[in-house]
Amino acid sequence: MKKNKEILITGGAGFIGSQLADHFLKNGYGVTVVDNLIWGKREFFEHNLKNSKYKFFEVDLLDKKSIESVLTEKIDTVFHLAANSDISRSARDPQIDLNNTTTATFNLLEGMRIKGIKKIFYFSGSGVYGDVGNISTKENFGPLCPVSMYGATKLSAEAMIYAYSNLFNIQSWVLRPANIIGPRATHGVVFDFINKLMKNPEKLIVLGDGKQSKSYIYVSDVIAAVDLVWNNSNEMRNIFNISSGSYVTVEEIAKIIIEEMSLKTKIEYTGGAIGWKGDVSIVRINSEKIAKLGWKSNYTSGEAVKKTARKILGLE
Ligand SMILES: NC(=O)c1ccc[n+]([C@@H]2O[C@H](COP(=O)([O-])OP(=O)(O)OC[C@H]3O[C@@H](n4cnc5c(N)ncnc54)[C@H](O)[C@@H]3O)[C@@H](O)[C@H]2O)c1
Repeated sequence: MKKNKEILITGGAGFIGSQLADHFLKNGYGVTVVDNLIWGKREFFEHNLKNSKYKFFEVDLLDKKSIESVLTEKIDTVFHLAANSDISRSARDPQIDLNNTTTATFNLLEGMRIKGIKKIFYFSGSGVYGDVGNISTKENFGPLCPVSMYGATKLSAEAMIYAYSNLFNIQSWVLRPANIIGPRATHGVVFDFINKLMKNPEKLIVLGDGKQSKSYIYVSDVIAAVDLVWNNSNEMRNIFNISSGSYVTVEEIAKIIIEEMSLKTKIEYTGGAIGWKGDVSIVRINSEKIAKLGWKSNYTSGEAVKKTARKILGLE
């Protein structure tokens, strides 16, 4: 429907952004990527550098002038993924989220306002809902009381996007995904466990009591959702949760990975309901709204964990 349009992806050298770039290029879009490469990797986008429809700029969103210089009037929609994406990192250094989520989003919105770009697709997160236990949170759930700087700054970025929507007529799509996993991930539970097990196959130390229960979505399911939502939801503000609707515990994840690695590892738990401050033990995100648009995940949480592990281990 929107083929041949130009899009820009911030954080497009990262885990999800680089796969979104591949997807839109394959589908005929012109793709500009900006990333400061603090967590993104050249190997995730090098294969696109010879494609005349692909442009990469090493730009920090904290540098207002640089971001303005790559925002051209030709860009139809900005897909905004640049952020600190690691909640545990933000527990150690709260400033990291203020910079790379709140200030970065403000600078981007300002650039869009100045250049007259009218559409933004934002990757928020389930962290905006805070710690609400077994409640199946719909998009209109409130009050939103995040328990981490990651969640707090995601909420601040959403809030600024809604304000810019009202003040400057910028249309927005906001996705609030559960945990996304798959190849090219640079952190997260599956990635961490595999790395730990490679170093020590005898013993796996798991943060918390292992009972944390969350939904995991395979990255290709998320990319399909982005395309669907962007092309089929046309309100001024479009907010969508996305979860696979199934759940696995951290203990189950550890067991799946140990089995895929054909190990007989002893698992030890550090104890406590959460892995680190800012973590949430139970996350239940309601995906009925996106399901009504026709989206359904191809993989359950358990299948997504297994497939991610197999991809990282080179088994498929
Ligand atoms: N991975 C998940 O489970 C998950 C779940 C929900 C939402 N999200 C959101 O999706 C987005 C992408 O996540 P990801 O897992 O691909 O993370 P990622 O860390 O792989 O990607 C983020 C990218 O942003 C870049 N970046 C960070 N700060 C920047 C700045 N100031 N200027 C320019 N570039 C900057 C990093 O270098 C990195 O390449 C993030 O906004 C994240 O919060 C991720």
